[in-house]
Amino acid sequence: MAVPYPHLFSPMEVRGRTLKNRIVSAPNMLFQVWNGRPTDFYVGYLEHKAKGGAAIVNLGEVPICDGGTHTPFTKLTPDNLNIFGEMAAAIRQHGALASVELTHGGRNARPWYNTKPVRGPITEINPMGVFVQEMSRKDMEEVADAFADAAEYMADAGFDAVHIHGGHGWLFAQFISPLMNTRTDEFGGSLENRMRFPLMCLERIRRRVGDRILVTMRMSGSEREEGGFTPEDITEFIARSQDYIDLVEITTENFSYCMTSTYYPWGINVELADRIRNSGRVHIPVFVIGAIMSPEMAEEIIASGKADGVFLSRALIADPCMPNKARTGRADEIVPCLRCLRCTDQDNAVRFFACSVNPTTAHETRLGFMEDTLQVPAANRRRILVAGGGPAGCSAALTAAARGHEVILCEAGSELGGMIRYAVFDPLKPDLHRYCDYLERRVRKEAENGRIDLRMNTEVTPELADELRPDHILVATGSEAIPPAFIPGWERAHHVLDAYFRPETAAGDEIVVIGGGLGGVEAALYLCDLGKKVTVLEKAACLAGVGYCYGRGVRDTVAKYGLPLVDGATVTEITHDAVRYTDNSGKEHLLKADSVFYAVGMKSRKDLYYQLWDKAPFVEQIGDCRKPARIGEAVADGYFAALDAGTW
Ligand SMILES: Cc1cc2nc3c(=O)[nH]c(=O)nc-3n(C[C@H](O)[C@H](O)[C@H](O)COP(=O)(O)O)c2cc1C
Ligand code: SF4
Repeated sequence: MAVPYPHLFSPMEVRGRTLKNRIVSAPNMLFQVWNGRPTDFYVGYLEHKAKGGAAIVNLGEVPICDGGTHTPFTKLTPDNLNIFGEMAAAIRQHGALASVELTHGGRNARPWYNTKPVRGPITEINPMGVFVQEMSRKDMEEVADAFADAAEYMADAGFDAVHIHGGHGWLFAQFISPLMNTRTDEFGGSLENRMRFPLMCLERIRRRVGDRILVTMRMSGSEREEGGFTPEDITEFIARSQDYIDLVEITTENFSYCMTSTYYPWGINVELADRIRNSGRVHIPVFVIGAIMSPEMAEEIIASGKADGVFLSRALIADPCMPNKARTGRADEIVPCLRCLRCTDQDNAVRFFACSVNPTTAHETRLGFMEDTLQVPAANRRRILVAGGGPAGCSAALTAAARGHEVILCEAGSELGGMIRYAVFDPLKPDLHRYCDYLERRVRKEAENGRIDLRMNTEVTPELADELRPDHILVATGSEAIPPAFIPGWERAHHVLDAYFRPETAAGDEIVVIGGGLGGVEAALYLCDLGKKVTVLEKAACLAGVGYCYGRGVRDTVAKYGLPLVDGATVTEITHDAVRYTDNSGKEHLLKADSVFYAVGMKSRKDLYYQLWDKAPFVEQIGDCRKPARIGEAVADGYFAALDAGTW
């Protein structure tokens, strides 16, 4: 039988253990910890990564000891051994190897998660303003022992591997970095000295666990900073580590590159992995991570010899079934990740993990595994009328069709995707563009297979609803822009979406965007990319409320284009060729503007809902029609509404 992606799916042996393919589910730390004990949600999350087909599934950051904790303390107590055991068993029961990432934050440990003082390579005040004490030889011995203790604990819990976090600015990277480690003893100075303590830890771990488990390592291939460690330094470090470790994963330093948003290219660390793997110095398997977003790309990386395998993080959050779908010829059904970073930003901000395109991920314990929910036929087959083919409508139609309902999807326009179709025009939004294509492809395929009655250029009306007599109506009519009618001359301006859909509105070279939220700034970046000179005016603070991780990518891109973001700007008038505003001090400014755009808010389109509310036993608003929000809320609304249909 011809296996698709033959390199990606070829098995390999590592220290007597079989990796069934070359896909590793990367460590993802979730805030699913209660008083130091991981919750059942965490177990369900990892189990379903294994069920989706990855060869190794990693539990994210487990701090090895007090003093080194930079994430909520997952405690390695005797009481917790059983929950870690449950995790390992849940992963293994689906044929994957269970691995756990062990970390020490060093100078970046958070005082509020530790009772012991923060220690690092040198005494300093760190960038967070925390006092850091230089580690003594005794401290180092304790940390090396703590690594070995933690590895043994996890072996006792039933894990097949420990993954030592050497990168991302944590302890090993701090010691190896010439920028962070300026010690003058035998642990600082030359590369030989800077590697000494990390090697001591690795040696201690291996000595303790022997052949019981695999010891793998995550290491940054470059510090990506002037004067920082280089791929050559890391090649040397890995060459020296390979007596103790079985496999290395190449990541990178510099936060924007560790977890790239859509503003960065795919496969960002492949070149680093290639240099290390093919240096002639390294004989253990070299895997790579970093925006490897499709099985095609993973296959190419391995087939071309740049790496032996891949670690995937967000691709498997978005769709944990990616490996099994790819292997079974269903690659076109893989749900693409948007690289929107909601998964990290929301978990960090409000402690509720959510993925924009996978409503059940990390909530499988309560909601079930998405793939399973789609394979369970609904208790009662219903006729479901979906009004609107944007993300909410498409998500609802696909979910309902998968569960065997009779689905009629009406879209008033000639294309599917709704508002997110803007990404089709925006070269800075390739991942959203891909998702838009995915929705369209999936819906059209279901229409071809007769599972969705797709009616394009069809407005749902009360008369149509009377004729169709549906059991459920899901109204997904989206939202529309609120114009800045409070500004004299506003009629001259256009909503930012017009910049994409009606390019003639972006006339001239100098453009002002009123509204510095994400929509305004991202549209401004698109206009910059077209070569326009753009200024963004915001009454409050630009990009306020945008998540930290995604916001970094946006800010990096703002800096790259030199886009001026003006905070505290109250626009008082739009004239025929300029925008007048006052700054926070009350000073007036006049900015030349050939075109003016605004992004000052959206409102739901609810008219149809109120026309239809008594046309079926169940009539629901979904997506922006219910409340203008991000794509993730729309996708989830559609999914859950379609799941509920058929219960009654
Ligand atoms: C929700 C989330 C949690 C993460 N948690 C961890 C973690 O616990 N340990 C770690 O080393 N990296 C963590 N990362 C980083 C990923 O392992 C990975 O390096 C990063 O997402 C880049 O890979 P990708 O482009 O395939 O997503 C996390 C990333 C995400 C999105
Ligand atoms: S939340 Fe966004 S970045 Fe994170 S996995 Fe889902 S789609 Fe990808």
